[in-house]
Order: sequence, then structure tokens, then C-alpha cells
Amino acid sequence: MSKVLIVGKGGREHALGWNFEKDSEIERIYYAPGKGKTDSGKGINIGIDGTKKDNFPGLFDFVKKEKVDLVVVGPEAPLNNGIVDYFNSNGYFGIFGPTQNQTLVESDKFYSYDLMQKLGILQARSIKCSNLEDGLDAIDRFSGSVVLKHRGLAEGKGVKVYDSKNDARRDIKNFLNSFPGDFLVADRLYGEEFSFFGLADGNIFLPINLAIQDHKRVNEGDKGLNTGGMGAYAPAPVASIEDLEHITNEIMSPVVKEIGYKGFLFAGMTKSRSGNLKVIEFNCRLGDPETQTMVMMLENGLYRPV
Ligand code: AMP
Ligand code: GLY
Repeated sequence: MSKVLIVGKGGREHALGWNFEKDSEIERIYYAPGKGKTDSGKGINIGIDGTKKDNFPGLFDFVKKEKVDLVVVGPEAPLNNGIVDYFNSNGYFGIFGPTQNQTLVESDKFYSYDLMQKLGILQARSIKCSNLEDGLDAIDRFSGSVVLKHRGLAEGKGVKVYDSKNDARRDIKNFLNSFPGDFLVADRLYGEEFSFFGLADGNIFLPINLAIQDHKRVNEGDKGLNTGGMGAYAPAPVASIEDLEHITNEIMSPVVKEIGYKGFLFAGMTKSRSGNLKVIEFNCRLGDPETQTMVMMLENGLYRPV
């Protein structure tokens, strides 16, 4: 029998626990910190917020004392703050997630842009910028409309999508007030978006063969600002089985092999009308709310996926 600990307290973490709850191999699910009803059934909210860097030592002590077999990390913040490195450097390897360096696939858009360029993975054409002048110059170098993308983490909100280059020019100061620092000016991609993820062990990528769509923009008719995602459904018909195979073989597996990636890997994809697939972003974790939808559709438990 195994003990599992989930770091986080959102819907995604509850959904992971819901999946683990059904696994007869698992006797206990600790949540750090969890919330409300995760403290029921096999679940216990342990009162340590494992998402906070200051709490890594306390969490580590708990994991050792309770002989936890597997630690799964939900949100990006603790991964970014090096929770996996911390546990590994103290001799605990039962934690599933990327090292701090590997989280750059999500937290640094310059890094992920360069990585995709190196591996020949299709993405939007982008120009790296550091200030207003760079940005205005870059906008002029595109023929169609553009998006502005903050270089660092912004909970899915650091991107502004414009209908024209003039709109971008007019708004760039506002954008830089909200998100100071480095950014990309990128081609605006048109098409249907979907999320795709799987697990990696540092060498092999194991896909969860499902295209999932989340509802991103506020207001009716997809007219408002982007949110982190407000609901999801699957399977999204936009992607065929061949598309998912292509993403696995030509996108996810090369990234995993190139940087020895371990953990959940998530690609935000777009498919154009003519069927071209491009990467919008990588994330170093599962999606929220996509995970809530995904676990309802799995035939096997996530604890023992094969
Ligand atoms: P990201 O933080 O890169 O995931 O971007 C958040 C959202 O912004 C995406 O889910 C898209 O809806 C939108 N977005 C990002 N890049 C582009 C792009 N090049 N063209 C059109 N929309 C984009
Ligand atoms: N729902 C999108 C994300 O988790 O990044």
C-alpha cells in the first residue's frame, strides 16, 4: 500500500486526488495544503502549504516521517521555486516534477522560444524585446497582427492579443505598465486552441491521448480578455489521433530528450484551418481546469498509468 502527497489546493489537485482515491494500491492521500473536502475519505489536509518555498523544509520532514512514497506537485510556483531540486538534494527522489532549470520551458518565453527553434518545432514567429522602442520596431517588422507576450510567468494573463498592428502600437505602453520587463512580439496565430499533456521520466514521453479545450476569454463570443481558463471539455474534435501522434513524436518527445525532462509536460497547441499545428506555449505541469476534465476520461489510474 502506498502513501501519496499532493502539493496544492485547487481544482486540479482535487481532481488528481479523486483519481488516486479510486486506486486500491493507495491507502492515504496527503494534501499540502489542500482545501475543504480534500480532507475526507483517504485524504488529509496536513496544514503545511507546500506551494511556499519557506515551507519546503517542513514539508520534507513530513514526507520523511510519514514515509510518503510519491509526491506530486500541482501548480507551477513550487516547481519554479525548486521544490524538486530541494527534495532531490536531500536524498528524496519520490517527487514527480521538473527541476527548477527544466521549468524554464514555462517560466521563460525566451528560453522556450530558443528551445523550439533549436529542435525545429513550429511556433509563432517572434522577436525578443526589452523596452518600448524595441517593441515598436518589432511590431513594424510583422505584416499581420501581433500579440505581446510577457517573458516571465503571469498565470496565463501575460499575453495580449491584438486585431491589428496599430492596436498593438497604441496599447504597448499599457501592456508594459502591467507587465514590465522583457517580452516577445509574436505573429498572431489564428486557429483553434487545445491543450495536450503527458508524463515524462527524463527520457520517455507517455502521452495522455486527449485534446482538451478550456474556455479562456471572458464575456460572450470569446470577445473579452484572456483568463487562466474557466472550464474545459474533451475530447476536443479539432485534433485527430494523427495530430496527437505528431505532437507526441515531433514535439513532446524531442523536448523531453533534449533537456531530460521529468514530470507532467503540457503543450498549448493551435491548429489552423489548413491543419497546421503550432505550439503556443509549454507548461511544466498539468492544466487547470483541463485536469478536472481529463481525470473523468482516463481508463487507468494516474498512479499506475500503464
Ligand atoms: P500563453 O501564456 O503563451 O499560453 O498565452 C495565453 C493565451 O494567449 C493563449 O492560450 C492564447 O489564447 C493566446 N496567445 C498566445 N500566443 C498567441 C499567438 N501567437 N497568437 C494568438 N494567440 C496567442
Ligand atoms: N488552463 C490553462 C493552463 O492551465 O495553463
